[in-house]
Amino acid sequence: MQATRVRPNGWEWLSWLYMRVSAVLLLGLVLGHLYIMHVINSTDTIDFAFVAQRFATPFWRVYDLLILVLALSHGLNGLRGIVNDYTRPGGGWRLVWNVGLWTVGLVFTLLGALVLFSFDPSAFARR
Ligand code: HEM
Repeated sequence: MQATRVRPNGWEWLSWLYMRVSAVLLLGLVLGHLYIMHVINSTDTIDFAFVAQRFATPFWRVYDLLILVLALSHGLNGLRGIVNDYTRPGGGWRLVWNVGLWTVGLVFTLLGALVLFSFDPSAFARR
């Protein structure tokens, strides 16, 4: 199988760099998430009121969106690299996989952003 060429400053080099940068960012964000949600708080205290208070300001919504976007794009881009190892450049299977990976990425990023930014605790209180 022909290996994918990696030119400095080319798309594949940027993708390689992105895997490292997103991994470092994810490490910090995920450790912060674990500490806050599972060390100083626990599933006994995390309820609707906890989430409503957490999402009262945009900070935690943006924090959670960053984890979603970075983890999803990191995972899908890693999978794209694996697909490149097993498919021919310019071939049909590589195209099918790329369309699938981009579709999954865009749909779940939009869904996640919609959930995070449309959450309105007062809408439930009015019921
Ligand atoms: C703190 C979280 C994470 C860290 C520190 C991390 C770190 C890394 C690093 C450094 C690489 C590059 C390895 C290489 O190219 O040799 C990598 C690749 C990869 N990561 Fe992550 N990762 C994290 C989370 C995730 C998550 C959440 C997923 C899946 C949703 C994921 C899926 C992948 C995949 C599929 C690859 C490509 C593996 C390959 O090329 O063989 N990672 N990760």
